[in-house]
Amino acid sequence: MKQVVITGTGLFTPPHAVGNAALVETFNAWVESENARHAEAIAAGEREPLQPSSESFIVKASGIHSRYVLDAEGILDPERMRPRLPVRDDDALSIQGEMGAAAANEALEAAGVAAADIDLVIVACSNLERAYPAVAVELQAALGAGGHAYDMNVACSSATFAIDAATNAIRAGSASRVLVVSPEICSAHLNFRDRDSHFIFGDACTAIVLEDDAVATAESRFEVLGTRLATRFSNAIRNNAGFLNRVTDSDPQAADKLFVQEGRRVFKEVCPLVAALIDEHLARLSLRGDDLSRLWLHQANRHMNDLIARRVLGREASPEEAPIILDRYANTSSAGSIIAFHLHRADLAPGALGVVCSFGAGYSAGNVVVRRR
Ligand SMILES: CC(C)(COP(=O)(O)OP(=O)(O)OC[C@H]1O[C@@H](n2cnc3c(N)ncnc32)[C@H](O)[C@@H]1OP(=O)(O)O)[C@@H](O)C(=O)NCCC(=O)NCCS
Repeated sequence: MKQVVITGTGLFTPPHAVGNAALVETFNAWVESENARHAEAIAAGEREPLQPSSESFIVKASGIHSRYVLDAEGILDPERMRPRLPVRDDDALSIQGEMGAAAANEALEAAGVAAADIDLVIVACSNLERAYPAVAVELQAALGAGGHAYDMNVACSSATFAIDAATNAIRAGSASRVLVVSPEICSAHLNFRDRDSHFIFGDACTAIVLEDDAVATAESRFEVLGTRLATRFSNAIRNNAGFLNRVTDSDPQAADKLFVQEGRRVFKEVCPLVAALIDEHLARLSLRGDDLSRLWLHQANRHMNDLIARRVLGREASPEEAPIILDRYANTSSAGSIIAFHLHRADLAPGALGVVCSFGAGYSAGNVVVRRR
């Protein structure tokens, strides 16, 4: 069987960092003005006052301190509280195309691969900025890549599911070099007026080059030993935005057309599912938790990662073993585990084993076991 190697990764980080303090200040200014607007109804007991958010809660509950976004001004304006992204001409490169090209060029350079030698481009992310033409086909043209391209969406697990698709395509011989790109504009699906979740997301884009080992030239390679995917239907994370909104006459601005979750339930249900997936996958490869040098886990909640790492390793993980990037990036959906992999793998010795694991809406979870060459 053909051996598949990851030979390069890239990361696009948006220009604006927004700390918890600024986000909470905007949220609380809005709460104050809403409560003042409804003061009479609140005084008459007809309406509950909105509660303020707090920086200490955010850090304690999630581990998030800051996030990068494409536009901070619109998010931090209490009158707007959503990013302002100018509409682009159909002939201009789309926003996700632009983010994707920046991350892809870095990954291609690291891999020593010319765009023209890529024969499959997969854009894998939670939200696509239009129905069609596929962003992946646009990116393929913008980069000058060959072969074919397609978009896919498995929410936070999009990148690991795409690594699975890329690995299978290379093993089957339908592609030799695959580019997986995850342009996540999470600030556009986040309800910045929802106290429970206004702090959880950030924007970023990652890119990964996977190749048939026989054609790869990069010195640094991570062999994909295996991929394993799991899904279990749940409404605990849901977003009802879709092309039928127009014809069902539902309100396109309603809160259910944005990200909605039952965070505590997600925490409780997803952690055991993910730990079992990793355990089972390792067992199939005749490996155990203590064979792993690193866990590049999905970056949604620090406590979730601590718990999953503890279950897989059978002990507390050190910060080096299970790197956290959500403190600076927040949850960047499918990009999160790939950002961790991008930033925290250079120190691993040849032969070291690790897992890239993502989990999220669906529920969906994807695990990739890699070994440093
Ligand atoms: C979202 C999350 C950080 C919330 O943390 P939590 O500890 O579960 O918090 P809860 O929602 O249970 O709320 C706990 C308390 O804090 C309060 N609270 C909620 N948001 C708050 C805020 N922004 N500021 C201050 N207090 C807040 C709640 O009202 C509640 O108060 P109570 O105990 O008096 O009822 C956490 O559940 C999580 O990350 N879950 C996993 C989510 C995930 O992985 N999703 C995948 C997305 S792709």
